Amino acid sequence: MRILVIGGGGREHTLAWKLAMSPCVEKVYCIPGNPGISKVAECVEIDISDNQALLEFAQSNKIGLTVVGPELPLANGIVDVFTAKGLKIFGPTQAAAEIEGSKAFAKALMKKYNIPTASFEVFTDADKAREYIRNQGAPLVVKADGLAAGKGVVVAMTIEEAIGAVDMIMRDQTFGLAGSRVVIEEYLTGEEASLLAFTDGFTIVPMVSAQDHKCIYDGDKGSNTGGMGTYAPAPIITKAMLEQIQLEVLQPAVDAMRAEGRLYCGCLYAGLMITDSGPKVIEFNARFGDPETQVVLPLLSSDLATVMEACIDGKLSDIEVKWDDNAAVCVVLAAGGYPGGYAKGDVITGIENAEEVGALVFHAGTAIKDNAIVTSGGRVLGVTATAKDILSAVKKAYNAVQEIKFTDMHYRRDIAHRAIKKLNN
Ligand code: AMP
Ligand code: GLY
Repeated sequence: MRILVIGGGGREHTLAWKLAMSPCVEKVYCIPGNPGISKVAECVEIDISDNQALLEFAQSNKIGLTVVGPELPLANGIVDVFTAKGLKIFGPTQAAAEIEGSKAFAKALMKKYNIPTASFEVFTDADKAREYIRNQGAPLVVKADGLAAGKGVVVAMTIEEAIGAVDMIMRDQTFGLAGSRVVIEEYLTGEEASLLAFTDGFTIVPMVSAQDHKCIYDGDKGSNTGGMGTYAPAPIITKAMLEQIQLEVLQPAVDAMRAEGRLYCGCLYAGLMITDSGPKVIEFNARFGDPETQVVLPLLSSDLATVMEACIDGKLSDIEVKWDDNAAVCVVLAAGGYPGGYAKGDVITGIENAEEVGALVFHAGTAIKDNAIVTSGGRVLGVTATAKDILSAVKKAYNAVQEIKFTDMHYRRDIAHRAIKKLNN
């Protein structure tokens, strides 16, 4: 079978790498891909927001399974377009992807179906939002309703900050139409974790739990980023907690989507806060996490293409999805200045040496210039290691990081610190 992966970051590199191992896969294509992906797939330059061009590519290249990485093509209805032509594609339809695309929709769904989440109000009127903030007091969390590339959330510790966030989102329209509605919600405390699940719309099969590190600096300080590193499994998700999340969050969510006539098939990502009163949903995403995928898929021992096909065919309950007992750690190497402005085009050295010491180096923001691999994004590489336990995986990943160099490269030195602290207690 021929496979097409849509996207060109670290998540898609991991998907393409895993799918390329599948015994039933003859060839992997990736649109647009990146230099790392080109080692395992043929990369093709097509605009991923052009549904018609993607469809024509899949038809003329006899693609047997398409896997969508980022949220944008899902929100654009790529799954609807492929399915209408009888092509197999892994991911939710446009209507189902709204669980990520509209926070107001996701919150209303959770409220209606009793899925635990922070209490909230939705506003389309900025004055009413400001008044609510003054009455409610801080801390509060202010979120743009629509897709805002992970930047539409302000955790406000004061009333002034919360009002500033409303002004930025609604008055200044910093995120365009995504900000015509805001969700203002209760500030939750606890430890965060990500739990991704395969689903065919009926059955859910959770993946190994993971924890992202969203802040730019060690000790979870500084600005929010797309994610500076991950590890899996997350010890905060004990076996009992996993069962509780399946029962209270994941199963009710896919049942709710089905009941609403929006059958959800694909990967459902629950971003959770594990509070003193149990797990609460911070957000749902309609896709694999980035960089969660970089630590979750290396631990999957089953064949990924088979699992994805079972989801599409509504037969997930017929198969067994198996995981390794190992742990995985991914350290993101970022360009100087990220998450603000950053340079591009700096030569990267040492990737092969890092691979030789046993790491998987997933490319996120790289390009080829004059035959050299150079930086081309804020998050440049995800250096991933698997080992028998978290401590060994951390050591192996950071050993590999030492091999890689580019101008102003920076990274967090404390990935997995929460898991390590738990070991020491
Ligand atoms: P989101 O884009 O919804 O994942 O939010 C980004 C980050 O904001 C999350 O990873 C949390 O750290 C934080 N956050 C979002 N909602 C809440 C909340 N209700 N309480 C506390 N922190 C939150
Ligand atoms: N790691 C966060 C996300 O993929 O949304």
